[in-house]
Amino acid sequence: MSTAPNIPLQQHGQPEPSPPTTWADLLASIPSPMSLVEHLDRHVVGQQAAKRKLAVAVSNHFKRLVDGERWTGRMTGLDPIADAPDLMQVVIERSNVLLIGPSGSGKTLLLKALAERLNVPVVIADATTLTETGYVGEDVESLLVKLYLASGGDFGKAQSGIIFIDEIDKLAGRTSTVRDIGGEGVQHALLKMIEGFVSFIPTKLGPRHPGDETVPLDTTGVLFICGGAFPGLEEIISSRLGRSAGGFGFGAANDERPVGEGDLLRHVLPEDLQAFGLIPEFVGRMPIIATLDDLGVEDLARILGDPKNALLKQYRKILRLQGADLDFTPDAIREIARMAHARCTGARGLRSVLEMVVEGVMYEVSEADRGHVFVIDERVVRGEGTPVRTPIRAVPPLRPLLRRRVTG
Ligand SMILES: Nc1ncnc2c1ncn2[C@@H]1O[C@H](COP(=O)(O)OP(=O)(O)O)[C@@H](O)[C@H]1O
Ligand SMILES: [Mg+2]
Repeated sequence: MSTAPNIPLQQHGQPEPSPPTTWADLLASIPSPMSLVEHLDRHVVGQQAAKRKLAVAVSNHFKRLVDGERWTGRMTGLDPIADAPDLMQVVIERSNVLLIGPSGSGKTLLLKALAERLNVPVVIADATTLTETGYVGEDVESLLVKLYLASGGDFGKAQSGIIFIDEIDKLAGRTSTVRDIGGEGVQHALLKMIEGFVSFIPTKLGPRHPGDETVPLDTTGVLFICGGAFPGLEEIISSRLGRSAGGFGFGAANDERPVGEGDLLRHVLPEDLQAFGLIPEFVGRMPIIATLDDLGVEDLARILGDPKNALLKQYRKILRLQGADLDFTPDAIREIARMAHARCTGARGLRSVLEMVVEGVMYEVSEADRGHVFVIDERVVRGEGTPVRTPIRAVPPLRPLLRRRVTG
């Protein structure tokens, strides 16, 4: 899947601003890590450490691209490196990122939110669909075709874009789920692309034919971000650290954060990823490792109501389209979060629990409910009662819990 770039800049019908031509303007156009984290905070609950690392890496990606402008001769004004001639020839290397965190903790969401904010193309792909060139399936170069298409056919942009490859752990030797061929072959193919090469790519997706138009795309400037859950990695880290793997509290149905698990991931070293089954060269190309925490009940409760597209807001909007509304008591929200937490699928569990809770209302709501709000309390969530229906003005439109901004 690819995500259209430029959402904030190119609102419908607005022409794209012309690119900066002075060093000062160019530098000012780089998003600061803090502004990126601020944006991510609107979409993703918690995961502050991962947000910061990702934001710094992405901001540095732009600085590296800006530095590359020196050789194009396009920039006017004072070159920021002019007073440091010893740095003139220094090449800033890419800082590719590896995101490690449990399933449903927000890895893909972080990337989607970033894509919305940046004015370079971002491609979000799944490693399990990839094959080595020549095998049936999507080959690694299809990622570049997607990048080119997401850039709207703009080379400069495509060559400075971002490729996110999710489920990278599935390519590891010991857990490979890629049928017919080993994930290791795909790792090698990806490695070539990450190391930087010029690839002649077709200008559209789909089967190739002789004589198809191709264009050269240089991957040297592309930022790669890989993500995966890496199940079992904690055990590898813990045995390296000489600690017992017992007592992590996976699946604990209460509010307590699983003891040690998140901490353990933070101690990950390249050698642990090799032990997991990634090839050393590949690990070497991912110098920045950001880990995401397992989400606790409190996090899940906030995810229900706080983010820009929070699930509770979505369901409320659905009812509003029919002139009615939904209201969840704080206890109901907590109970939904608790039930979702017990499923051990991170925030993914929220949707199915919520769907079960509101299905009755969604099914029965009719014209007669116009102007009414259905109040969902803890009992309704547990299936022990039905929602109370009151006129819309009888309850405040938003509960304080939902109005709080997403932070921390
Ligand atoms: N930290 C979070 N904050 C807000 N929503 C989240 C968070 N983590 C996961 N979600 C939601 O849960 C679902 C799965 O998240 P996703 O980012 O795809 O997880 P994964 O870590 O497996 O890539 C998405 O609907 C996403 O919006
Ligand atoms: Mg994902």
